[in-house]
Amino acid sequence: MSWLKQFVDLGGPSPSRAVAFTAWVAELQGLIQTGTVNRDEWNCEWKAFTMRCLNETMGARALLKPHGYAGDFEIIDAIYHSRVSEDPGQKNWDTYFHAQAAPTAVRNRKIYFQRTITNAVVSAACFDEEMPRILNIASGPGRDMHEWLCANPGLPMLFDCVELDPNAIAFASNLCAQHADRVRFHRANALRFRPQDMYHLAWSSGLFDYLNDSLFVRVLKSLLNHVLPGGEVVIGNFGSYNPSRAYMELLGDWNLIHRSPEHLRELALAAGGDEKNIRIGREPACVNLFLHVSKPSRSS
Ligand SMILES: C[S@@+](CC[C@H](N)C(=O)[O-])C[C@H]1O[C@@H](n2cnc3c(N)ncnc32)[C@H](O)[C@@H]1O
Repeated sequence: MSWLKQFVDLGGPSPSRAVAFTAWVAELQGLIQTGTVNRDEWNCEWKAFTMRCLNETMGARALLKPHGYAGDFEIIDAIYHSRVSEDPGQKNWDTYFHAQAAPTAVRNRKIYFQRTITNAVVSAACFDEEMPRILNIASGPGRDMHEWLCANPGLPMLFDCVELDPNAIAFASNLCAQHADRVRFHRANALRFRPQDMYHLAWSSGLFDYLNDSLFVRVLKSLLNHVLPGGEVVIGNFGSYNPSRAYMELLGDWNLIHRSPEHLRELALAAGGDEKNIRIGREPACVNLFLHVSKPSRSS
């Protein structure tokens, strides 16, 4: 902690000190793995230190969990905006945070979402007479939808969003207010939600990497039952390659279930997917994977 105190006084992980800080995080991880440092004690000390010295940083938001859980709509939206503290003594910590692989992957997945929506809407509009319908499970801040809707004005389509946190719904409804005719919000627990409709695409990012395998399979199975022939379910999940995992876990208390492509395939098969209709996509950082499970079209 005395090294950290000096490091904070110097201004934290500036671009020229970023490598040294990353090496320090790796060393801390080693000390915790060997039991030289007790993880619970470290968590307590780091939290107190952050609240004292780094209270305006992204790291403090991650640790504090003001909405009661990791990955709330506010921190995700702050990641989308690469938000940096205005306090000159704290801003290097945020610049370092946003440069890490995991926040980069979150920003990349917004683009992946938007491409996936465009593909689904175009193919539904070409091959189906019905209005394209997208089920968005755990919709969070809705920034990904808002940007897509602004970029595609007037396209007839509907997002049905399922979200547990009423504050996230309030935020996203406000953000998407000008598109209210194309977005509906349902306050519900995705683990128990039974859709009333059939969809061209069911999408979920930022939820399944918190679910154990049996919940993963159960929810995926239910989504597959509510996708139209020719449509697909797309699930985002952090992959086993995540260079910022130690930083997230030890400094942000942000713990996800990381899954390999093989593991995601196994879960898709267990949920009733067919081997030939399963594929794994990646965003450019290759940290966030996307499990695609498609439903054969009526003609195939
Ligand atoms: C990490 S955010 C992802 C938001 C959005 N999908 C994105 O990628 O920008 C996760 C969201 O899942 C919501 N959530 C968590 N558990 C949920 C559940 N069981 N049912 C519905 N929503 C849930 C949280 O409230 C939060 O808004």
